Amino acid sequence: MKQHLLTAILAASAAATPLAQAPAAPAVPVSGDNGDMGGIFGMGFGTSSASSSTSGLGSLLSGISSFFGPAKGSTPPKASGLPAAAAPPKPASTPAAAASSGITAMLGGLLNNLDISSLVPTGPEYPKGKPSLQDFYDPGSGPYPAHFFTVPGLTRHTVYAPIKPPPPSLKMPVFIWGNGGCTSSGTPYAMFLTEVASYGYLVIANGPPGGAPPTLDIPRGAGAGGLPGPDGKPKYTMADAAAGGMSTIKDMNDAIAWVVNGNAKEYGNVSTTDFATGGSSCGGLEAYSTAYHNDRVKLIGVYNSGVIMPNKRALLQELKAGVALFPGGPKDMGYENSNADYAALPKNIPAFYASLDSGHLGTFFAKRGGKYGRATVQLFEWYFRGDAKARAAWTDPAAPGGLIAEHWQNVTHRNFN
Ligand SMILES: *[C@@H]1O[C@H](CO)[C@@H](O)[C@H](O)[C@H]1NC(C)=O
Ligand SMILES: *[C@@H]1O[C@H](CO)[C@@H](O)[C@H](O)[C@H]1NC(C)=O
Repeated sequence: MKQHLLTAILAASAAATPLAQAPAAPAVPVSGDNGDMGGIFGMGFGTSSASSSTSGLGSLLSGISSFFGPAKGSTPPKASGLPAAAAPPKPASTPAAAASSGITAMLGGLLNNLDISSLVPTGPEYPKGKPSLQDFYDPGSGPYPAHFFTVPGLTRHTVYAPIKPPPPSLKMPVFIWGNGGCTSSGTPYAMFLTEVASYGYLVIANGPPGGAPPTLDIPRGAGAGGLPGPDGKPKYTMADAAAGGMSTIKDMNDAIAWVVNGNAKEYGNVSTTDFATGGSSCGGLEAYSTAYHNDRVKLIGVYNSGVIMPNKRALLQELKAGVALFPGGPKDMGYENSNADYAALPKNIPAFYASLDSGHLGTFFAKRGGKYGRATVQLFEWYFRGDAKARAAWTDPAAPGGLIAEHWQNVTHRNFN
Protein backbone atom coordinates (compact mmCIF):
# COMPACT_ATOMS: atom_id res chain seq x y z
CA MET A 1 0.00 0.00 0.00
CA LYS A 2 1.58 3.21 -1.14
CA GLN A 3 0.44 5.48 1.63
CA HIS A 4 2.73 8.33 0.65
CA LEU A 5 1.31 8.34 -2.84
CA LEU A 6 -2.23 8.31 -1.55
CA THR A 7 -1.36 11.31 0.58
CA ALA A 8 0.20 13.01 -2.42
CA ILE A 9 -2.90 12.39 -4.49
CA LEU A 10 -5.19 13.81 -1.84
CA ALA A 11 -2.92 16.81 -1.46
CA ALA A 12 -2.81 17.31 -5.19
CA SER A 13 -6.55 17.16 -5.47
CA ALA A 14 -6.97 19.61 -2.63
CA ALA A 15 -4.41 21.88 -4.24
CA ALA A 16 -6.22 21.82 -7.54
CA THR A 17 -7.95 25.09 -6.83
CA PRO A 18 -9.64 25.10 -10.24
CA LEU A 19 -11.83 22.34 -8.84
CA ALA A 20 -13.28 24.83 -6.42
CA GLN A 21 -13.56 27.53 -9.06
CA ALA A 22 -15.24 25.44 -11.72
CA PRO A 23 -18.03 27.29 -13.48
CA ALA A 24 -21.41 26.70 -11.92
CA ALA A 25 -23.13 23.76 -13.57
CA PRO A 26 -26.88 23.95 -14.01
CA ALA A 27 -28.88 22.91 -10.96
CA VAL A 28 -29.92 19.30 -10.67
CA PRO A 29 -32.07 17.36 -10.85
CA VAL A 30 -32.77 18.12 -14.47
CA SER A 31 -34.64 16.01 -16.95
CA GLY A 32 -33.25 12.52 -16.83
CA ASP A 33 -30.94 13.23 -13.94
CA ASN A 34 -31.62 12.39 -10.33
CA GLY A 35 -28.61 14.43 -9.25
CA ASP A 36 -26.51 11.50 -8.06
CA MET A 37 -23.00 11.12 -9.31
CA GLY A 38 -23.39 8.78 -12.26
CA GLY A 39 -27.14 9.45 -12.47
CA ILE A 40 -29.91 7.04 -11.60
CA PHE A 41 -27.54 4.05 -11.82
CA GLY A 42 -24.92 6.00 -9.90
CA MET A 43 -23.59 5.99 -6.44
CA GLY A 44 -26.55 7.43 -4.66
CA PHE A 45 -24.60 9.45 -2.16
CA GLY A 46 -25.51 12.34 -4.37
CA THR A 47 -24.29 15.78 -5.03
CA SER A 48 -27.51 17.57 -4.21
CA SER A 49 -26.20 20.36 -6.39
CA ALA A 50 -23.61 19.83 -9.06
CA SER A 51 -22.68 23.48 -8.92
CA SER A 52 -20.02 22.84 -6.34
CA SER A 53 -17.46 20.53 -7.72
CA THR A 54 -15.66 20.66 -4.39
CA SER A 55 -18.61 19.01 -2.74
CA GLY A 56 -18.65 16.65 -5.67
CA LEU A 57 -15.12 15.66 -4.87
CA GLY A 58 -16.02 15.32 -1.21
CA SER A 59 -18.90 13.01 -2.01
CA LEU A 60 -16.67 11.18 -4.37
CA LEU A 61 -14.12 10.50 -1.67
CA SER A 62 -16.72 9.63 0.94
CA GLY A 63 -18.39 7.29 -1.47
CA ILE A 64 -15.29 5.40 -2.30
CA SER A 65 -15.87 2.59 0.14
CA SER A 66 -19.26 1.85 -1.40
CA PHE A 67 -17.81 2.32 -4.87
CA PHE A 68 -15.56 -0.66 -4.46
CA GLY A 69 -17.98 -3.00 -2.78
CA PRO A 70 -18.23 -5.74 -5.37
CA ALA A 71 -21.30 -7.78 -6.09
CA LYS A 72 -20.33 -10.83 -4.07
CA GLY A 73 -20.33 -14.26 -5.57
CA SER A 74 -20.92 -13.20 -9.15
CA THR A 75 -19.40 -15.23 -11.93
CA PRO A 76 -18.48 -14.26 -15.47
CA PRO A 77 -20.91 -15.36 -18.13
CA LYS A 78 -20.20 -18.64 -19.82
CA ALA A 79 -18.25 -17.85 -22.95
CA SER A 80 -19.86 -18.92 -26.18
CA GLY A 81 -17.65 -21.94 -26.63
CA LEU A 82 -14.50 -19.86 -26.69
CA PRO A 83 -11.34 -20.80 -24.86
CA ALA A 84 -10.52 -18.86 -21.71
CA ALA A 85 -6.88 -18.61 -20.83
CA ALA A 86 -6.11 -19.62 -17.27
CA ALA A 87 -5.91 -16.56 -15.06
CA PRO A 88 -5.88 -17.46 -11.38
CA PRO A 89 -7.69 -14.69 -9.48
CA LYS A 90 -5.52 -12.82 -6.99
CA PRO A 91 -6.80 -12.20 -3.46
CA ALA A 92 -8.85 -9.03 -3.19
CA SER A 93 -6.81 -5.95 -2.44
CA THR A 94 -7.22 -4.20 0.89
CA PRO A 95 -9.90 -1.51 1.12
CA ALA A 96 -7.18 1.08 1.61
CA ALA A 97 -5.36 -0.01 -1.53
CA ALA A 98 -8.63 -0.03 -3.41
CA ALA A 99 -9.40 3.47 -2.20
CA SER A 100 -5.96 4.65 -3.23
CA SER A 101 -6.27 3.18 -6.70
CA GLY A 102 -9.79 4.47 -7.04
CA ILE A 103 -8.92 8.03 -6.21
CA THR A 104 -6.14 7.90 -8.73
CA ALA A 105 -8.36 6.50 -11.42
CA MET A 106 -11.01 9.05 -10.64
CA LEU A 107 -8.72 12.00 -10.83
CA GLY A 108 -7.46 10.61 -14.09
CA GLY A 109 -5.72 13.21 -16.12
CA LEU A 110 -5.59 15.77 -13.35
CA LEU A 111 -2.42 14.08 -12.20
CA ASN A 112 -0.52 14.13 -15.40
CA ASN A 113 2.68 12.20 -15.50
CA LEU A 114 2.05 10.17 -12.35
CA ASP A 115 2.86 6.50 -12.86
CA ILE A 116 -0.68 5.36 -12.29
CA SER A 117 0.09 1.70 -12.89
CA SER A 118 2.11 1.65 -9.67
CA LEU A 119 -1.08 2.43 -7.75
CA VAL A 120 -3.78 0.44 -9.49
CA PRO A 121 -3.68 -3.35 -9.70
CA THR A 122 -2.97 -4.25 -13.30
CA GLY A 123 -2.84 -7.51 -15.22
CA PRO A 124 -0.57 -8.84 -17.95
CA GLU A 125 -2.65 -7.07 -20.60
CA TYR A 126 -2.03 -3.63 -19.11
CA PRO A 127 0.03 -1.81 -21.76
CA LYS A 128 3.76 -1.42 -21.18
CA GLY A 129 5.57 1.84 -21.71
CA LYS A 130 4.45 5.42 -21.99
CA PRO A 131 2.83 6.86 -25.09
CA SER A 132 4.64 9.85 -26.59
CA LEU A 133 3.03 13.15 -27.46
CA GLN A 134 3.03 11.99 -31.08
CA ASP A 135 1.07 8.90 -30.01
CA PHE A 136 -1.34 11.14 -28.13
CA TYR A 137 -2.07 13.23 -31.23
CA ASP A 138 -2.13 10.21 -33.57
CA PRO A 139 -5.16 10.58 -35.87
CA GLY A 140 -6.23 6.93 -35.43
CA SER A 141 -5.93 3.80 -37.55
CA GLY A 142 -9.25 4.22 -39.37
CA PRO A 143 -9.94 5.49 -42.89
CA TYR A 144 -10.85 8.99 -41.64
CA PRO A 145 -7.96 10.53 -39.66
CA ALA A 146 -9.47 12.33 -36.70
CA HIS A 147 -8.74 15.02 -34.14
CA PHE A 148 -10.38 16.79 -31.22
CA PHE A 149 -11.64 20.34 -30.84
CA THR A 150 -14.27 22.42 -29.09
CA VAL A 151 -17.46 23.97 -30.40
CA PRO A 152 -19.17 27.12 -29.10
CA GLY A 153 -22.46 25.33 -28.41
CA LEU A 154 -20.92 22.79 -26.04
CA THR A 155 -18.60 24.51 -23.59
CA ARG A 156 -18.43 21.52 -21.20
CA HIS A 157 -17.35 19.04 -23.87
CA THR A 158 -14.64 17.92 -26.28
CA VAL A 159 -15.65 16.85 -29.79
CA TYR A 160 -13.75 14.17 -31.77
CA ALA A 161 -14.39 13.87 -35.50
CA PRO A 162 -12.69 13.02 -38.77
CA ILE A 163 -10.56 15.97 -39.91
CA LYS A 164 -12.19 15.77 -43.34
CA PRO A 165 -15.87 14.74 -43.33
CA PRO A 166 -16.39 11.19 -44.63
CA PRO A 167 -18.47 10.83 -47.82
CA PRO A 168 -22.16 11.57 -47.19
CA SER A 169 -23.04 7.96 -47.97
CA LEU A 170 -21.41 7.00 -44.67
CA LYS A 171 -23.90 7.41 -41.88
CA MET A 172 -22.06 8.41 -38.72
CA PRO A 173 -23.38 7.15 -35.38
CA VAL A 174 -22.50 9.30 -32.38
CA PHE A 175 -20.57 8.10 -29.33
CA ILE A 176 -21.13 10.04 -26.10
CA TRP A 177 -18.32 9.47 -23.56
CA GLY A 178 -18.16 9.66 -19.74
CA ASN A 179 -14.79 9.67 -17.99
CA GLY A 180 -13.53 7.63 -15.09
CA GLY A 181 -14.47 9.27 -11.81
CA CYS A 182 -17.25 11.18 -13.62
CA THR A 183 -14.72 13.93 -14.03
CA SER A 184 -15.25 16.57 -16.64
CA SER A 185 -11.99 16.56 -18.51
CA GLY A 186 -12.40 15.70 -22.16
CA THR A 187 -8.90 14.56 -23.16
CA PRO A 188 -7.46 11.86 -20.85
CA TYR A 189 -9.19 9.28 -23.09
CA ALA A 190 -8.24 11.12 -26.30
CA MET A 191 -6.21 8.29 -27.83
CA PHE A 192 -9.11 5.87 -27.52
CA LEU A 193 -11.75 8.37 -28.63
CA THR A 194 -9.72 9.60 -31.63
CA GLU A 195 -9.29 5.98 -32.72
CA VAL A 196 -13.07 5.45 -32.67
CA ALA A 197 -13.70 8.73 -34.51
CA SER A 198 -11.23 7.73 -37.25
CA TYR A 199 -13.66 5.01 -38.33
CA GLY A 200 -16.29 7.61 -39.17
CA TYR A 201 -17.97 8.22 -35.83
CA LEU A 202 -18.66 11.53 -34.15
CA VAL A 203 -17.55 11.38 -30.52
CA ILE A 204 -18.44 13.85 -27.78
CA ALA A 205 -16.68 13.49 -24.43
CA ASN A 206 -17.73 15.05 -21.17
CA GLY A 207 -15.46 17.93 -20.30
CA PRO A 208 -13.40 20.52 -22.15
CA PRO A 209 -9.87 19.64 -23.33
CA GLY A 210 -7.09 19.87 -20.77
CA GLY A 211 -6.33 16.62 -18.97
CA ALA A 212 -3.59 14.31 -20.19
CA PRO A 213 -3.68 10.52 -19.96
CA PRO A 214 -1.87 9.58 -16.74
CA THR A 215 0.64 7.59 -18.79
CA LEU A 216 1.65 10.33 -21.20
CA ASP A 217 5.35 10.99 -21.55
CA ILE A 218 5.07 14.76 -21.34
CA PRO A 219 8.04 16.62 -22.75
CA ARG A 220 10.03 18.78 -20.36
CA GLY A 221 9.05 22.40 -20.48
CA ALA A 222 5.38 21.75 -21.15
CA GLY A 223 4.45 23.17 -17.76
CA ALA A 224 3.64 21.23 -14.60
CA GLY A 225 0.45 19.25 -14.98
CA GLY A 226 -0.16 20.64 -18.44
CA LEU A 227 -1.02 19.00 -21.72
CA PRO A 228 1.10 20.34 -24.58
CA GLY A 229 -0.23 20.91 -28.07
CA PRO A 230 0.92 18.71 -30.96
CA ASP A 231 4.02 20.91 -31.36
CA GLY A 232 5.13 20.18 -27.78
CA LYS A 233 4.53 23.79 -26.71
CA PRO A 234 2.45 24.41 -23.57
CA LYS A 235 -1.23 24.54 -24.48
CA TYR A 236 -3.55 23.28 -21.75
CA THR A 237 -2.87 23.91 -18.08
CA MET A 238 -3.77 22.07 -14.90
CA ALA A 239 -6.60 24.57 -14.55
CA ASP A 240 -7.94 23.60 -17.98
CA ALA A 241 -7.85 19.95 -16.92
CA ALA A 242 -10.09 20.67 -13.96
CA ALA A 243 -12.23 23.41 -15.49
CA GLY A 244 -15.33 21.29 -15.97
CA GLY A 245 -15.53 20.13 -12.36
CA MET A 246 -17.62 16.98 -12.11
CA SER A 247 -19.95 15.83 -14.87
CA THR A 248 -23.67 15.27 -14.58
CA ILE A 249 -26.09 13.31 -16.73
CA LYS A 250 -27.16 16.66 -18.15
CA ASP A 251 -23.78 16.88 -19.89
CA MET A 252 -24.45 13.72 -21.90
CA ASN A 253 -28.02 14.85 -22.60
CA ASP A 254 -26.75 18.24 -23.78
CA ALA A 255 -24.37 16.55 -26.20
CA ILE A 256 -27.17 14.42 -27.64
CA ALA A 257 -29.48 17.42 -27.94
CA TRP A 258 -26.77 19.41 -29.69
CA VAL A 259 -26.52 16.72 -32.38
CA VAL A 260 -30.28 16.21 -32.64
CA ASN A 261 -30.69 19.96 -33.16
CA GLY A 262 -28.64 19.72 -36.34
CA ASN A 263 -25.40 21.24 -35.10
CA ALA A 264 -23.14 18.39 -36.24
CA LYS A 265 -23.93 18.52 -39.95
CA GLU A 266 -20.57 19.93 -40.95
CA TYR A 267 -18.78 16.80 -39.69
CA GLY A 268 -20.49 14.44 -42.13
CA ASN A 269 -23.75 12.55 -42.41
CA VAL A 270 -24.11 12.46 -38.64
CA SER A 271 -27.02 10.41 -37.34
CA THR A 272 -29.59 12.01 -35.08
CA THR A 273 -31.02 8.66 -34.06
CA ASP A 274 -28.09 6.27 -33.57
CA PHE A 275 -26.23 7.12 -30.40
CA ALA A 276 -23.98 5.03 -28.23
CA THR A 277 -23.17 6.10 -24.72
CA GLY A 278 -20.07 4.74 -23.05
CA GLY A 279 -17.81 5.38 -20.15
CA SER A 280 -15.08 4.09 -17.93
CA SER A 281 -15.76 3.25 -14.29
CA CYS A 282 -18.10 6.00 -12.99
CA GLY A 283 -18.55 7.04 -16.64
CA GLY A 284 -20.06 3.63 -17.35
CA LEU A 285 -22.80 4.42 -14.85
CA GLU A 286 -23.42 7.72 -16.66
CA ALA A 287 -23.71 5.74 -19.88
CA TYR A 288 -26.40 3.52 -18.35
CA SER A 289 -28.24 6.44 -16.79
CA THR A 290 -28.33 8.52 -19.96
CA ALA A 291 -29.64 5.62 -22.02
CA TYR A 292 -32.25 4.86 -19.37
CA HIS A 293 -33.96 8.14 -20.20
CA ASN A 294 -33.19 8.47 -23.89
CA ASP A 295 -34.40 6.10 -26.61
CA ARG A 296 -31.99 7.55 -29.13
CA VAL A 297 -29.26 5.63 -27.36
CA LYS A 298 -29.01 2.26 -29.10
CA LEU A 299 -25.89 0.89 -27.42
CA ILE A 300 -24.36 1.33 -23.97
CA GLY A 301 -20.64 0.65 -23.46
CA VAL A 302 -19.80 -0.10 -19.85
CA TYR A 303 -16.04 -0.18 -19.39
CA ASN A 304 -14.40 -1.53 -16.22
CA SER A 305 -17.63 -0.86 -14.43
CA GLY A 306 -21.03 -2.10 -13.40
CA VAL A 307 -23.85 -1.12 -11.09
CA ILE A 308 -22.34 -0.51 -7.65
CA MET A 309 -25.42 -0.18 -5.49
CA PRO A 310 -27.03 -3.65 -5.46
CA ASN A 311 -30.49 -2.15 -4.96
CA LYS A 312 -30.14 -0.34 -8.30
CA ARG A 313 -29.34 -3.44 -10.36
CA ALA A 314 -33.05 -4.15 -10.93
CA LEU A 315 -33.24 -0.93 -12.98
CA LEU A 316 -31.25 -2.73 -15.69
CA GLN A 317 -34.46 -4.60 -16.49
CA GLU A 318 -35.87 -1.37 -17.95
CA LEU A 319 -33.08 -0.81 -20.47
CA LYS A 320 -33.96 -1.01 -24.16
CA ALA A 321 -30.58 -0.34 -25.75
CA GLY A 322 -27.95 -3.01 -26.25
CA VAL A 323 -25.33 -3.27 -23.51
CA ALA A 324 -21.65 -4.10 -23.93
CA LEU A 325 -19.62 -4.87 -20.81
CA PHE A 326 -15.83 -4.67 -20.99
CA PRO A 327 -14.36 -5.58 -17.60
CA GLY A 328 -10.60 -5.67 -17.10
CA GLY A 329 -10.37 -9.15 -15.60
CA PRO A 330 -10.42 -10.17 -11.92
CA LYS A 331 -8.01 -7.39 -10.86
CA ASP A 332 -10.49 -4.78 -12.08
CA MET A 333 -12.54 -3.35 -9.22
CA GLY A 334 -15.45 -3.25 -11.69
CA TYR A 335 -15.16 -6.94 -12.59
CA GLU A 336 -17.67 -8.46 -10.16
CA ASN A 337 -20.20 -5.71 -10.89
CA SER A 338 -19.79 -6.26 -14.64
CA ASN A 339 -20.42 -9.97 -14.23
CA ALA A 340 -23.48 -9.37 -12.08
CA ASP A 341 -24.83 -6.84 -14.61
CA TYR A 342 -24.47 -9.22 -17.55
CA ALA A 343 -26.52 -11.78 -15.64
CA ALA A 344 -29.15 -9.18 -14.68
CA LEU A 345 -29.75 -7.61 -18.11
CA PRO A 346 -33.15 -8.06 -19.74
CA LYS A 347 -33.13 -11.36 -21.58
CA ASN A 348 -34.29 -9.82 -24.88
CA ILE A 349 -31.81 -6.99 -25.47
CA PRO A 350 -28.51 -7.34 -27.34
CA ALA A 351 -25.75 -7.95 -24.83
CA PHE A 352 -22.01 -8.29 -25.27
CA TYR A 353 -19.29 -9.26 -22.81
CA ALA A 354 -15.53 -9.43 -23.13
CA SER A 355 -12.91 -9.29 -20.38
CA LEU A 356 -9.25 -8.36 -20.80
CA ASP A 357 -6.81 -9.04 -17.98
CA SER A 358 -5.67 -5.43 -17.82
CA GLY A 359 -7.02 -4.23 -14.48
CA HIS A 360 -9.33 -1.29 -13.89
CA LEU A 361 -7.63 1.11 -16.30
CA GLY A 362 -8.13 -1.06 -19.36
CA THR A 363 -5.86 -0.01 -22.20
CA PHE A 364 -7.34 3.46 -22.73
CA PHE A 365 -4.10 5.23 -21.94
CA ALA A 366 -2.10 3.45 -24.66
CA LYS A 367 -1.65 4.56 -28.26
CA ARG A 368 -5.01 4.42 -30.07
CA GLY A 369 -6.58 3.08 -26.89
CA GLY A 370 -4.87 -0.28 -27.37
CA LYS A 371 -7.00 -3.42 -27.29
CA TYR A 372 -10.00 -1.59 -25.81
CA GLY A 373 -9.86 0.71 -28.84
CA ARG A 374 -9.86 -2.16 -31.32
CA ALA A 375 -12.57 -4.18 -29.56
CA THR A 376 -14.79 -1.09 -29.41
CA VAL A 377 -14.36 -0.23 -33.08
CA GLN A 378 -15.10 -3.87 -33.97
CA LEU A 379 -18.26 -3.79 -31.88
CA PHE A 380 -19.45 -0.52 -33.39
CA GLU A 381 -18.71 -1.63 -36.96
CA TRP A 382 -20.70 -4.80 -36.34
CA TYR A 383 -23.54 -3.24 -34.35
CA PHE A 384 -24.13 -0.06 -36.35
CA ARG A 385 -22.90 -1.07 -39.82
CA GLY A 386 -23.32 -4.86 -39.95
CA ASP A 387 -19.70 -5.28 -40.95
CA ALA A 388 -18.92 -8.99 -41.42
CA LYS A 389 -15.26 -8.77 -40.52
CA ALA A 390 -16.07 -6.93 -37.33
CA ARG A 391 -18.67 -9.55 -36.48
CA ALA A 392 -16.07 -12.27 -36.99
CA ALA A 393 -13.69 -10.45 -34.67
CA TRP A 394 -16.24 -10.98 -31.90
CA THR A 395 -17.67 -14.35 -32.86
CA ASP A 396 -14.92 -16.37 -34.59
CA PRO A 397 -12.12 -17.43 -32.22
CA ALA A 398 -9.85 -17.97 -35.24
CA ALA A 399 -10.37 -14.48 -36.70
CA PRO A 400 -7.01 -12.76 -37.18
CA GLY A 401 -6.99 -9.60 -35.07
CA GLY A 402 -10.17 -10.75 -33.40
CA LEU A 403 -10.87 -10.55 -29.69
CA ILE A 404 -9.54 -14.01 -28.87
CA ALA A 405 -6.36 -13.36 -30.84
CA GLU A 406 -5.98 -10.22 -28.71
CA HIS A 407 -6.38 -12.26 -25.48
CA TRP A 408 -9.84 -11.09 -24.51
CA GLN A 409 -11.45 -13.81 -22.38
CA ASN A 410 -14.94 -15.08 -21.71
CA VAL A 411 -16.12 -13.37 -24.89
CA THR A 412 -19.81 -13.84 -25.44
CA HIS A 413 -22.96 -12.12 -26.66
CA ARG A 414 -26.67 -12.73 -27.12
CA ASN A 415 -29.62 -11.40 -29.14
CA PHE A 416 -27.53 -9.96 -31.94
CA ASN A 417 -26.33 -11.24 -35.27
C1 LIG B 1 -27.14 9.96 -44.89
O1 LIG B 1 -27.44 8.74 -44.24
C2 LIG B 1 -28.80 8.38 -44.33
C3 LIG B 1 -29.02 7.17 -43.47
O2 LIG B 1 -28.20 6.11 -43.84
C4 LIG B 1 -29.18 8.15 -45.77
O3 LIG B 1 -30.55 7.83 -45.87
C5 LIG B 1 -28.89 9.42 -46.58
O4 LIG B 1 -29.13 9.17 -47.93
C6 LIG B 1 -27.45 9.84 -46.36
N1 LIG B 1 -27.24 11.12 -47.00
C7 LIG B 1 -26.52 11.25 -48.09
C8 LIG B 1 -26.39 12.65 -48.59
O5 LIG B 1 -26.01 10.31 -48.68
C1 LIG C 1 -12.83 -15.72 -17.38
O1 LIG C 1 -13.64 -16.51 -16.53
C2 LIG C 1 -12.94 -17.35 -15.62
C3 LIG C 1 -13.98 -18.12 -14.79
O2 LIG C 1 -14.89 -18.73 -15.60
C4 LIG C 1 -12.10 -16.53 -14.70
O3 LIG C 1 -11.34 -17.39 -13.84
C5 LIG C 1 -11.15 -15.68 -15.53
O4 LIG C 1 -10.42 -14.84 -14.67
C6 LIG C 1 -11.96 -14.82 -16.52
N1 LIG C 1 -11.02 -14.05 -17.32
C7 LIG C 1 -11.05 -12.70 -17.38
C8 LIG C 1 -9.96 -12.03 -18.14
O5 LIG C 1 -11.91 -12.04 -16.87
